[in-house]
Amino acid sequence: MQIFIDTANLDEIKAAMAWGVIDGVTTNPSLIKREVERLKAAGQAVDMDGHVRAILRAAGAENPVSLEVTATDAAGMAQQGKLLFQKYNGVMGNVVIKIPVNTYMGNGFEGLKAIKALEDAEIPVNCTLVFTPEQALLAAKAGATYVSPFAGRVDDHIRSQAGIAFEKGDYFPVEGWAAEDEEGGEDTLDDEGIVSGVDLVAKIAELFEKHEVDSNIIASSIRNPRQAREVALAGADIATIPFSVLKGMMLHPKTKEGVEKFTADAVPEYQELIGRQAPQPVLERAAPQQPSPQPQQRPQPTAYDLANKRQ
Ligand code: E4P
Repeated sequence: MQIFIDTANLDEIKAAMAWGVIDGVTTNPSLIKREVERLKAAGQAVDMDGHVRAILRAAGAENPVSLEVTATDAAGMAQQGKLLFQKYNGVMGNVVIKIPVNTYMGNGFEGLKAIKALEDAEIPVNCTLVFTPEQALLAAKAGATYVSPFAGRVDDHIRSQAGIAFEKGDYFPVEGWAAEDEEGGEDTLDDEGIVSGVDLVAKIAELFEKHEVDSNIIASSIRNPRQAREVALAGADIATIPFSVLKGMMLHPKTKEGVEKFTADAVPEYQELIGRQAPQPVLERAAPQQPSPQPQQRPQPTAYDLANKRQ
């Protein structure tokens, strides 16, 4: 599985690239907003054009960088996508245009039409905001080079619909969340048969394999290291991972303990052979977040919920 870094922060991209494990970068307007606000808060001038060029250079020619459009109609998205590609692909030849699968405008197919227009112009597309296998299939058929199922936001949606409180980095079980049903038994919460974000990725991977769909699955909206492991096992081609989660993927208390013991055990005779090093800062792994073992009461859908399902 390839690993992309999900950020618009140049320092994070440069640091992660230096680890030798990053195969690409994904951005979105919210990540760019966060970075612009961070720069402004630090009293730095914002040069958006220079920033985008610096991201493309930091990623390198071999590593795709997704830049997202903000228009919501097919013509506008295609126009912005072409503009971004023409303006920036010359920097390193690594620009991919991110298009939402559906902008809920027009007849609902604006995203697919924009994907087709860009792919016809030989501009690679990363289709974003994918929440069902059927959206992924249609995006791939329209020509998307990448489809991005939002694993973490599926988990958020399932928990929110059921009124379950959670923090953004909380773990959500792959096999779904057991909740109390109307008869007092246990039932697994789901979103139209999808029981977790990892399940969404697994079902898209199964569908693509069964029908030999060659679009690449980018597991997105990754919230914790265990979810990164699980989307890899579920068959994602790529996971795009925030910097903090990437750092968390490297931590284990027994690794820390082992290094401390080996360091303490180094006898002077051995140390003289290889030299000593200055003390380094110590990193700690965050306490694992586990879901409550208690079944949760499932709130009943209102007439509004039922009438507006999937609209
Ligand atoms: C990446 O392509 C997505 O835009 C991103 O992973 C969304 O993550 P979030 O749900 O944590 O905002």
